[in-house]
Amino acid sequence: MHLKIHENYESLSRQAANEIIALMKQKPEAVLCLASGDTPRLAYSLMTKMAKDEKIDFSRCTFIGLDEWMGIPPDNEGSCHYFLRRHIFEPLNISNDRIRLFDALSTDQKGECKKMDKTIIEKEGIDLMVVGIGMNGHIGFNEPGASVEGYSHVVDLDAATRTVGQKYFREHTLLTSGITLGLGHMQEARKVILVANGTKKADIIRKALEEDVTPVVPASLIRKHVNAYVMLDREAGSLLTAK
Ligand code: GLP
Repeated sequence: MHLKIHENYESLSRQAANEIIALMKQKPEAVLCLASGDTPRLAYSLMTKMAKDEKIDFSRCTFIGLDEWMGIPPDNEGSCHYFLRRHIFEPLNISNDRIRLFDALSTDQKGECKKMDKTIIEKEGIDLMVVGIGMNGHIGFNEPGASVEGYSHVVDLDAATRTVGQKYFREHTLLTSGITLGLGHMQEARKVILVANGTKKADIIRKALEEDVTPVVPASLIRKHVNAYVMLDREAGSLLTAK
């Protein structure tokens, strides 16, 4: 795992954006899994702008969804679907046949997970995952205690995730379970980038990077990945002792 503490949020976002663009130049048929959330928002806006300016072709790549709130329809502004459409797929003009997201309204949850796992195998794995970190150390919806080798699954959300998740929604929304790729997918991805910014993430970043590697803090598992890059701003890295 490689760690870089950037001067500010813009600088870390720019590096993350550069990494996505560099991969697209090198491998236009890449399989990308880009998290939703507040943290990578600027990286995606810089990335889509660079893609337009430099005429980067995203038409052959595949987008895999990281996670989704179960029961929340794709047209709800708080859904991961909505976020990805608005911030990535629409600006890049990605056609639907290049997009594989979880169906959070499916009544066959196991089937939905199997379908996603099969897709990833058929696509020969994920080239790049960009993930954020939850306030409880989750990656996607791999909550504390998630299986280290697990693949797609449906999970009861932690109390912290249900509360923090309200920030994405216009009105109070019942959030009970989530569907997510597993930590096994993260371990098997060819490259992983974890982005975090702000003081509020400093303590969980310290736990993930400096305490035990344990599924109790799912993000700590990133330290076992040989091609993982953690990109922080100064605030998020402020409690690390070994800077
Ligand atoms: C959310 C999502 C994650 C996201 C994380 C951090 O609950 N399930 O995929 O990366 O928490 O979100 P944010 O970047 O808004 O802090």
